[in-house]
Amino acid sequence: MRSRLSPLGLISLLAGSVAASQDLSQYVNAFIGSEGPDGTGYGGGDIFVGGTRPFGVVKLGIDSTAVDWSTAVLNGGWTPDGNVTGFSMMHESGTGGEPKYGLISQMPLTTVDAPVNILDNLTYSQPRVGNDTAKVGYFKTQLKNGVAIELSASRHAGIMNYSFPEGQKHVLVDVSHFLPGSPGDANGQFYTGGEIQIEEDGKAYSGYGTYIGGWNNGASFTVYFWGEFSEKPDEAQAFSGANTSPMPRYHNHDNSPIPQATLGKSQILTSGPMNDRIGLLLSWKDGAASHIISRVGISFISAAKARSYIQKEIPSWKLNDTVTDAVKEWNEDVFNKVQVPLDASANMTRVTLLYSSLYFMHMMPSDRTGENPLWDSAEPFWDDFYTMWDIFRCTVSFYHIFQPAYYESMIRGVINIYKHGGYMPDGRSGNWNGLVQGGSDADNVLADAYVKGLRGAVNWTEGYMAMKKDAEVTPYNTFDPTDLTASTKEGRGALDDWKELGYVSQDHNTRCISRTVEYALNDFAVSQVAKGEMPCDVEKYLNRSANWQNIWDPSVKSLNFTGFLAPKLSNGKFNSSDYNPLLCDGCEWQSITYEGVPWEYSFVIPHDVKTLIKLMGGADTFEDRLDLMFKPNMSVQSLGANGAGITTLINIGNEPDFATPYLYNYINKQSKSVEQSRTLANQYFKDAAYGIPGNSDAGAMNSWLLWQMLGIYPIVTQPVYLLASPWFPDLNMTVNGNSTLRISATGLDEGYYVQSVKINGKQWTKNWFEHGEVMTKGGHIEFELGKEVKAWESGEVPPSPGHVELK
Ligand SMILES: *[C@@H]1O[C@H](CO)[C@@H](O)[C@H](O)[C@H]1NC(C)=O
Ligand SMILES: *[C@@H]1O[C@H](CO)[C@@H](O)[C@H](O)[C@H]1NC(C)=O
Ligand SMILES: *[C@@H]1O[C@H](CO)[C@@H](O)[C@H](O)[C@H]1NC(C)=O
Ligand SMILES: *[C@@H]1O[C@H](CO)[C@@H](O)[C@H](O)[C@H]1NC(C)=O
Ligand SMILES: *[C@@H]1O[C@H](CO)[C@@H](O)[C@H](O)[C@H]1NC(C)=O
Ligand SMILES: *[C@@H]1O[C@H](CO)[C@@H](O)[C@H](O)[C@H]1NC(C)=O
Ligand SMILES: *[C@@H]1O[C@H](CO)[C@@H](O)[C@H](O)[C@H]1NC(C)=O
Ligand SMILES: *[C@@H]1O[C@H](CO)[C@@H](O)[C@H](O)[C@H]1NC(C)=O
Ligand SMILES: *[C@@H]1O[C@H](CO)[C@@H](O)[C@H](O)[C@H]1NC(C)=O
Ligand SMILES: *[C@@H]1O[C@H](CO)[C@@H](O)[C@H](O)[C@H]1NC(C)=O
Ligand SMILES: *[C@@H]1O[C@H](CO)[C@@H](O)[C@H](O)[C@H]1NC(C)=O
Ligand SMILES: *[C@@H]1O[C@H](CO)[C@@H](O)[C@H](O)[C@H]1NC(C)=O
Repeated sequence: MRSRLSPLGLISLLAGSVAASQDLSQYVNAFIGSEGPDGTGYGGGDIFVGGTRPFGVVKLGIDSTAVDWSTAVLNGGWTPDGNVTGFSMMHESGTGGEPKYGLISQMPLTTVDAPVNILDNLTYSQPRVGNDTAKVGYFKTQLKNGVAIELSASRHAGIMNYSFPEGQKHVLVDVSHFLPGSPGDANGQFYTGGEIQIEEDGKAYSGYGTYIGGWNNGASFTVYFWGEFSEKPDEAQAFSGANTSPMPRYHNHDNSPIPQATLGKSQILTSGPMNDRIGLLLSWKDGAASHIISRVGISFISAAKARSYIQKEIPSWKLNDTVTDAVKEWNEDVFNKVQVPLDASANMTRVTLLYSSLYFMHMMPSDRTGENPLWDSAEPFWDDFYTMWDIFRCTVSFYHIFQPAYYESMIRGVINIYKHGGYMPDGRSGNWNGLVQGGSDADNVLADAYVKGLRGAVNWTEGYMAMKKDAEVTPYNTFDPTDLTASTKEGRGALDDWKELGYVSQDHNTRCISRTVEYALNDFAVSQVAKGEMPCDVEKYLNRSANWQNIWDPSVKSLNFTGFLAPKLSNGKFNSSDYNPLLCDGCEWQSITYEGVPWEYSFVIPHDVKTLIKLMGGADTFEDRLDLMFKPNMSVQSLGANGAGITTLINIGNEPDFATPYLYNYINKQSKSVEQSRTLANQYFKDAAYGIPGNSDAGAMNSWLLWQMLGIYPIVTQPVYLLASPWFPDLNMTVNGNSTLRISATGLDEGYYVQSVKINGKQWTKNWFEHGEVMTKGGHIEFELGKEVKAWESGEVPPSPGHVELK
């Protein structure tokens, strides 16, 4: 269900240092990642489709029903095949796990007569007619009941234009509406109460709803709202009804059918001690077709503040004014900062992939500055890190160069969460830390910012204290049903082992191999910030960053290669019974490795590739072993929908492998990095609804593609970028706020292999460069490309700054 409108047209805009006067938002395909391989949401990107702004609080879009719970993915609200249950203000984008949000909704109805029961969405949900339309700042859908809805959003508010056909006209406001999890899942989301008040005779309403759970098992949080209509309804009735949601342990109902709501004249309703469902039914005179416009603001502080956002951000009742404003903001803040040729010679598929990738990596996290209900602080406040585990590898490095102001604000926000909440988040949503999939990866994020020189108003004394807490203090067990063995909320759950044994053991802890690998990089990150903030700690954490070597078993053989990461017991012995590094037992929370098998994790040591090459048997064996990662039909571990049908050992649909295609640079075989990474990009990334290999993971997938298109790849926690091969003959990008990075290439038509490189006019013989060379004051990377494989690089290989040899 998708179609793309013709461009909004040319609009004149002021831009940053890279000038532009064209509406580049027209090149975004807002459906990339909306579907899986079979045209349903299953195996797709779980992206949000609707109205939003860069890092905005509001993502206004539809919520839909599950066609089949065993394959349903309601995470982004929109699905290709579900029926519409409402239009709600808050969504996530690209996430897996159980849905979160889908909050503060309205639903237009043309009848409320039986069998419609306003407490039972399945009696009024609507199939859609034809294809939805989505583009930057605009969404339109047509419901079977004849109502067409167009919508747009500002940062904290949304606007909807309902075109009702002739007949009855109602809008249902259901405070108890949320995106449900699959039945029986321990991490489902629930409504726990609220309040609603009719204002101005029904022309407006205000209140709040409180919600709990969802993917990160979050504590309850409250969202305040103010909604209003262009036309006063002829009748405004508040309703309440028993809460029959199957909340684990607190299911408040027997097996009888969902009851009917009680409709009344009361101007204000609170849900009471049993979390009754509450809402409003607003009705306009039965009559001619007409348009009813609604504006809704939300806030975590108060309904008055929610209202003030409407007044500030959406002062007009004309939907198009907000659309124009949204397009302008996206262009100025995001798209205009990248310029590529758009003349007749341009490859428009690539142009679409470029701007769409930029779009999807600006949906999360959410900038909730001014919206912190938890503590008093002048520091910025951010939510919806979903998760650092996904975005630390290459997404935040893109924010660093491309969105320096937002990025500094994010880092300050993350440190402030440590200061007042105890730990930095790995995941965070609904003002609550969780879920930690591997290490405490905010450490990597802070180190990446620090080594590239980000200082600004960040208090790095506190930043370092936050990192050291991750490295030294085991968090309380949260007894998450996903994994009862240790905290999944924050910090490093297996830190006890790490400090005592120097690895995560298989008998004490879950995910022993992948967490050992990640804790090693986390400690490397700590050592890099310690260099500036606490020099006496450097050696300690650098030593600990080599701990991954403690679980390298040189005797394990697989596919003719020897030496792999292996599960080790707390008694110091490897557990070799039935060990096969091609398998992970599901790669889930209870497995030895998470979202990747030990074969893959054995390559994920970015801080010390030098030792890795040595342990693998030298450069030639390392190369053969890397080659095997890309050979079809080698994978034997089924990853279900997470596997995206991939048959190679490398799985670009999961983040741990993001840097692996580029590792050939470490043996001066850059042409192979180009070949392998380009092949993956061509195979799995498309200008299509099934256009990314699995969940976009808050834009992590999209940022991987962006770097690929630029022809460079960042090595996280180091001020280092590897050179690959660019996709555009010329590209100017605003970096560091004011400067221009230019990446140009000749010979694109002949092939993608690098023949030679110049940086800032100097012939370049290394296949990597440092941040300061082009990212702070700008610079120019010139590629000469061609069809011949050429060994153009002769300089030293990329650094291994965490090089420590353990005895
Ligand atoms: C959607 O609604 C139609 C018509 O009311 C119904 O036949 C269909 O089963 C519904 N589908 C879902 C997924 O709810
Ligand atoms: C819709 O109704 C079903 C069945 O009662 C329920 O499981 C679900 O949570 C409701 N809400 C939404 C938004 O789907
Ligand atoms: C909807 O989109 C699909 C896929 O792009 C297309 O095949 C179909 O013709 C469209 N349907 C309508 C009614 O436009
Ligand atoms: C609402 O949408 C209809 C149909 O597109 C349009 O004619 C009308 O002008 C719109 N109203 C506003 C206020 O945007
Ligand atoms: C809104 O803008 C679109 C695109 O410029 C235009 O086609 C449409 O007519 C406008 N609608 C109204 C109601 O102004
Ligand atoms: C990039 O900037 C240079 C220098 O200003 C300019 O000559 C070139 O045309 C620009 N390229 C693009 C694609 O805008
Ligand atoms: C345009 O780019 C796409 C994606 O890289 C590629 O598949 C296609 O072959 C290119 N088209 C032309 C004409 O080069
Ligand atoms: C930075 O944080 C430390 C520790 O909380 C505090 O002592 C110091 O005053 C802060 N520095 C600034 C400039 O605020
Ligand atoms: C050793 O590994 C096997 C195979 O995975 C497993 O079944 C067993 O529980 C492990 N032993 C210990 C002590 O963890
Ligand atoms: C780091 O490791 C080296 C070599 O094992 C050892 O000599 C040194 O004492 C260690 N330093 C710290 C601070 O643990
Ligand atoms: C391993 O080596 C044997 C003997 O040389 C060979 O037959 C086999 O194909 C190799 N396996 C792989 C996966 O390369
Ligand atoms: C841009 O450069 C000017 C002059 O050097 C400086 O004053 C300004 O702060 C810079 N802006 C950003 C966003 O870096």
